[in-house]
Amino acid sequence: MSTAVAAVSAPAKGMEKIRRALTGGHPLLYVQSWEEPRIERLVQHLAKTFFGQPVPFGVWSVVDGLLVDGMPIPETRDPMKALDAILQASGKGFYMLKDFPASSDARPEIVRRLRDLYRGLKDRGRHVLLLSPRLAIPEDLKKEIYVVEYELPDEVEISRIIDASVRRRLGVEAIDDSAVRRLALAMRGLTADEIGHLLGKVFAVRKGFDESAFLEVLAEKEQMSKKEGVLEFVPPRFSVEDIGGYDTLKTWLRKRQALFSREALDAGIPIPRGILLMGISGCGKSLCVKTISTLWNLPLFRLDMNAVFGTENPESTFLKALRSVEAVSPAVLWIDEIEMGVGGYREGGDAAMSRIFSGFLTWMQEKSALVFVAATANRIQLLPAEIIRKGRFDQVFFVDLPTEEERKQIFTIHLRKNRCDPARFDLVFLSKATKGWNGAEIEQAVVSAVVESYSEARPVTEDDLHRVISATVPLAVTMEEQIKAIKSWAHDRALNASTAQKM
Ligand SMILES: Nc1ncnc2c1ncn2[C@@H]1O[C@H](COP(=O)(O)OP(=O)(O)OP(=O)(O)O)[C@@H](O)[C@H]1O
Ligand SMILES: [Mg+2]
Repeated sequence: MSTAVAAVSAPAKGMEKIRRALTGGHPLLYVQSWEEPRIERLVQHLAKTFFGQPVPFGVWSVVDGLLVDGMPIPETRDPMKALDAILQASGKGFYMLKDFPASSDARPEIVRRLRDLYRGLKDRGRHVLLLSPRLAIPEDLKKEIYVVEYELPDEVEISRIIDASVRRRLGVEAIDDSAVRRLALAMRGLTADEIGHLLGKVFAVRKGFDESAFLEVLAEKEQMSKKEGVLEFVPPRFSVEDIGGYDTLKTWLRKRQALFSREALDAGIPIPRGILLMGISGCGKSLCVKTISTLWNLPLFRLDMNAVFGTENPESTFLKALRSVEAVSPAVLWIDEIEMGVGGYREGGDAAMSRIFSGFLTWMQEKSALVFVAATANRIQLLPAEIIRKGRFDQVFFVDLPTEEERKQIFTIHLRKNRCDPARFDLVFLSKATKGWNGAEIEQAVVSAVVESYSEARPVTEDDLHRVISATVPLAVTMEEQIKAIKSWAHDRALNASTAQKM
């Protein structure tokens, strides 16, 4: 049996789980996986070999209905009808149901029929596999359904795939063990199919491994993650010293600096799950997130909720992105504009959004410990209360307009960045003149002054800054009402990121 299964060269761990469940006689399996084509081939293969002689192989989807060995069974697009057909079939068989609506909001008659199916098929050699990228089974079915999580391949499995494809084709000497390990690490986060294609492509034109092969793999991988278009690697460019103010937040981050290590994990120290930064636009939320990866020395991936909603199937895109980050953990996942994804959860919101929201909450609860989530939001009125109550963030921070002292620090930082000596400027005066300004506006003022003076081929003066400052109307003035509302909303719900009192 096991050699036959190995013949389709799927990730051994996932395969083994499915095989064990089948040997255990479970009639109803729920396979949680992104790798639909691969699982389909696996089930087809099982139908041919599992019982020593071929048995029927059925596939159901809401588009095509039920097809058994390629033959459509009429009028089975309705999931109830499909279950009836499987129940009434005779003999052994394997049936794979794609995206079957057995989620927690499933029609009650479907839940009922699945339970009938369990009883009807038990010990008959007829197996039904529900396949979906996300796990959401109704409470009533938890006893009957056996869940198999079919994860993305880990490094061991990827090494095995490299062995099977590259070494078998080009010989063992084509790639040495340390190169296999490097490649395997670089290819984490891809499905087994993607790994296979990528290796095929890279080694089609080579006799063995060299540095250019490695670079090509990295480039391809980046291309693939771009194809999904919602997850972006953010290179570490900023450090905590680039943030003016927000001492409470900085202290919080520094205290947890050493927690994302093997030692801390082994010592059983609870690892933080995530933080939510909310607050006024241009105050440095994104900047703060970018510094976490530098401080903690972890890769940072940004998930763009706007882009998620631009895809054909936002829900599956979102969940797939979450899984991909787990596959490359330890890592920081930055969910920018999280309110975009969860805002619709409130009354009148559309169903996809509320599913994304509940999917997110479940994932936050079950996710790998080594993914730290840093979420940012500025239209916080759109955030449902549950994201704070049940979102399982370790801390919710409110990022307010900078205080006078903080504005001094922000001026210092941006003057230095623009090669101006802060000692030449009256920082107290500048920061008093920019009451109600956000960090982005201060940065912009410095940049404008630098550009101005450069065009006249002279160093920046305080006058340049004052001219820009008096010509600018900060957001806080044009949006006074909104900002007041944001502040009062955040007051009881979040910890102020700054220690200093407002002035
Ligand atoms: N506290 C600060 N210290 C230093 N620079 C700051 C600070 N706040 C903002 N800036 C500057 O302003 C830029 C824009 O800020 P950032 O994009 O992080 O704000 P944001 O809160 O994420 O805004 P939005 O809600 O619009 O996304 C930063 O890249 C940084 O250069
Ligand atoms: Mg931002």
